[in-house]
Amino acid sequence: MELEGKRIVLGVTGSVAAYKAAALLRLLAGAGATARVVMTDAATRFVGPATFAALSGKPVLTDMWAADSPMAHIDLTRAADAILVAPATADFIARLAQGRADDLLAALSLARDCPLLVAPAMNRQMWENPATRRNLEILRQDGITCLGPAAGVQACGEEGEGRMLEPEALLEALCAFFTPKSLAGKKVLLTAGPTFEAIDPVRGLTNLSSGCMGYAVARAAAQAGAEVTLVSGPVARPAPMQVLRIFVQSALEMRAAVLQRAAEADIFIAVAAVADYRAEQVAPQKLKKSAGVPPEIRLVQNPDILAEVAALPRPPFCVGFAAESEHLEDYAQQKRVRKNIPLIVGNLIQEGFGGETNRVILFDDAGGHPLPAAPKTQIARQLMAHILALMEKK
Ligand code: C5P
Repeated sequence: MELEGKRIVLGVTGSVAAYKAAALLRLLAGAGATARVVMTDAATRFVGPATFAALSGKPVLTDMWAADSPMAHIDLTRAADAILVAPATADFIARLAQGRADDLLAALSLARDCPLLVAPAMNRQMWENPATRRNLEILRQDGITCLGPAAGVQACGEEGEGRMLEPEALLEALCAFFTPKSLAGKKVLLTAGPTFEAIDPVRGLTNLSSGCMGYAVARAAAQAGAEVTLVSGPVARPAPMQVLRIFVQSALEMRAAVLQRAAEADIFIAVAAVADYRAEQVAPQKLKKSAGVPPEIRLVQNPDILAEVAALPRPPFCVGFAAESEHLEDYAQQKRVRKNIPLIVGNLIQEGFGGETNRVILFDDAGGHPLPAAPKTQIARQLMAHILALMEKK
């Protein structure tokens, strides 16, 4: 689990978005973190402490004077990995900027010995007010991390910036926050998903790649601080946070999008299941059934995008994937040599295609390095670490 063992102090302040903090609490627990909830007095007017107590399995702290420990404002953060205040109101942000300690949450934020993150939630006018802008600038200078806000329709009916990030996005941001920035300053280019090779306006050749592995690698690279561009075939999944996604359909479109960007990339990871062949002619109109005579579709070979990038005069560090149904080691190593790349990730189709977990072997000059079966998110992190180690050796 991605936040295994992390101890979070979850601060909740008086905004209608407080109800989303309850969902966030569940997500934190699901990711392996333990949370201690501290609410301001105003927050308790929106959601009762009993909700947070039940979800965190621990009493909620609301009052500086009623706390079970006389030094709650000190003790709570000494054992914490981070304080996340979500939602953080304009008033709470103002109090943080001033270094006030007029309730338990403000006092423990001031006395903290761990990072502090805030997820603002307020009306768009409050967000745009020069006073709030000033206060946020002070928070930034003080090393406090601001997550969001998002734009959209607000509880008050107005539309604009100031909505708290959704709980899933806050969890993502927290996972990224805790990831060491080992790829800072590096540009990573990836391909992911299937390609779709049109036959006529409604039909085509494609495959069952879900994009899960490629998106997980893009996410791991972004979390490690890289500038990530993901050239994706047609899949229905959201782009990972901080990743620039470019949608393409065919192998030729994927090739063009990649070659445009490959020269400036430090690392190129080809995860896409690119169709080997495409129709020589795409019928401009829908092919009609003609009694008893199936149409003939002539196929031509698609270019090998990975091999082309690896053959550039100054290629990025190139990584391929080899999904095989048998003879994994032989086929993967042959592919690595044929494409002239330093690293290939081999997996058996029976184990990796479509699902959330995978079992892979990393093949490089030193041979095969099997990784234990694991969620693709974890394999992606291990892959990025292996790439970095190989690059540092070069
Ligand atoms: O040759 P094969 O398709 O088995 O190689 C798989 C690897 O090469 C994957 O990394 C895949 O993304 C990449 N590839 C490519 N362009 C192709 C075919 C495969 O980039 N036309």
